[in-house]
Amino acid sequence: MNGEPLLRLSGVSKAFGAVKANDAVDFTLESAQIHALVGENGAGKTTLMRILYGVHQPDSGTIEIAGCQTHLPSPAAAIENGIGMVHQHFMLVPSFTVAENVTLGAESGKPGLYSAARAAKRTLDLAARLGLAVDPEAITGTLTVATQQKVEILKVLHRGARILILDEPTAVLTPQETHELFTLLRNLAAEGTGIIFISHKLPEVFAIADRITVLRQGRTITTGGRGEISTEAVVAAMTGRSDVHLGRVKRSGRSDAPAVLEVKELSTDRTVSDSPLDQVSLTVYAGEILGVAGVEGNGQTALAEALVGLTAARSGVILLGGEPVTDDNVRRRRDRGLGFVPEDRHLQGLPLHGSVTEATVAGRLRGTGRFATLAPALSRGRRVWAEAVMDKYAVTAADSSARCDSLSGGNQQKIVLARELEDNPACLVLAQPTRGVDIGAIEFLYGKVAEATHRGCGVLLVSADLDEIFRLSDRIVVLFKGRVVAELPTLTTTREEIGRHMMGVTA
Ligand SMILES: Nc1ncnc2c1ncn2[C@@H]1O[C@H](COP(=O)(O)OP(=O)(O)OP(=O)(O)O)[C@@H](O)[C@H]1O
Ligand SMILES: [Mg+2]
Repeated sequence: MNGEPLLRLSGVSKAFGAVKANDAVDFTLESAQIHALVGENGAGKTTLMRILYGVHQPDSGTIEIAGCQTHLPSPAAAIENGIGMVHQHFMLVPSFTVAENVTLGAESGKPGLYSAARAAKRTLDLAARLGLAVDPEAITGTLTVATQQKVEILKVLHRGARILILDEPTAVLTPQETHELFTLLRNLAAEGTGIIFISHKLPEVFAIADRITVLRQGRTITTGGRGEISTEAVVAAMTGRSDVHLGRVKRSGRSDAPAVLEVKELSTDRTVSDSPLDQVSLTVYAGEILGVAGVEGNGQTALAEALVGLTAARSGVILLGGEPVTDDNVRRRRDRGLGFVPEDRHLQGLPLHGSVTEATVAGRLRGTGRFATLAPALSRGRRVWAEAVMDKYAVTAADSSARCDSLSGGNQQKIVLARELEDNPACLVLAQPTRGVDIGAIEFLYGKVAEATHRGCGVLLVSADLDEIFRLSDRIVVLFKGRVVAELPTLTTTREEIGRHMMGVTA
């Protein structure tokens, strides 16, 4: 090469209406480098990557690839220039085999002459080169999220990517899967690929990145090699604050509190994506946070869904505040004071085509709620309410009429949490509450959860993130193959111990 970096973005700006998503951003990627891009929710990371992938056109600024100024009018043009993006919501065809997905759109030979055998061989060769174990004949939709992600990476590499963009790839992975992904990324970098890695988890960033660049409010705040820049400096650059608390959340507990949620020998039928529950028993007391740990797919989703009434119980009992609700529908359970933050905000949490106002007031308009007396001024009342919530939870969006799908990932999550917490639930089922949420917002949201427990709310926290479990929970139960295999007090247990139970190791 000519001594030029693999990629150089200079002065890139992009506005959406009044929002300056990128404001004269500079960013340089070398070949064989893993470069982390970090910043708060709404800082402009995804926007910058979408510009690089040809999805958005910058208002100004330049893109140079290996020293040549390049115009990227479409993803097809980006792919042609060796840029590949692994999307968080994968772009794979679930009914296709792995080999078909990997080679789709890049088949050699004449149209109509697609060779399954050749596709399988190419997929196997590529996987073997990278040390990946994937079955080219497997039907993609039946694979775990982590394996599908690998298929997506293979697909991008098969198209010849030299620059690989990963936007929050670990948000949906377990610690073990994250470890495997990192091995793959290091192998790719060793072959010369330049990798842009976006994550809100700073321990990960410091484990994998050669270089770190921080964006804040659309601007490049700082950039440095991993050895030159400390975690504290990155946190300060991201948030503009030096006092962000990253440790255990302080709460005052009571020892004689009544049970708000009791689950007795609960079993469910098999669902598509998760293990069925097998005789699960647990209790959540008022003011307590019970963490549910486990490798994804071991019944956590089934548990959350059975508790809120989205999955039927085959046997067993659920009691809310001492009253059986096992056969009640979702709405009756909500009326009894059950709040729910679902793990997938795109599928269940938010009306993506609706406005922030609609998302914030959803479920609040029945009965004699806050708005019944406001009928004539209903829409204004809703807007005022939504704007107060946006303010309180520091949601960044143009205003309350912004569409939910125009919000950054973390801001979407804040809205779901705000809506549930502002309902003052007696019991809150919190599934993966801070996936994709930045560290400042996590601190804030944890504070809100702590406040809820001070009011007496009991929380069942389902999280794949052990840091989250350890920062918040009073007790931890571990699910393995749909069963509770351990129940331990947080303060006297270790990550290693929980990790062993998660893997089903009993001795
Ligand atoms: N298509 C769009 N229309 C309107 N506004 C948008 C659009 N895409 C992004 N924005 C706004 O641009 C800003 C930057 O968003 P972006 O998604 O790039 O943030 P991010 O750094 O990726 O955040 P997160 O960590 O939450 O994913 C936000 O204020 C967002 O609401
Ligand atoms: Mg983003």
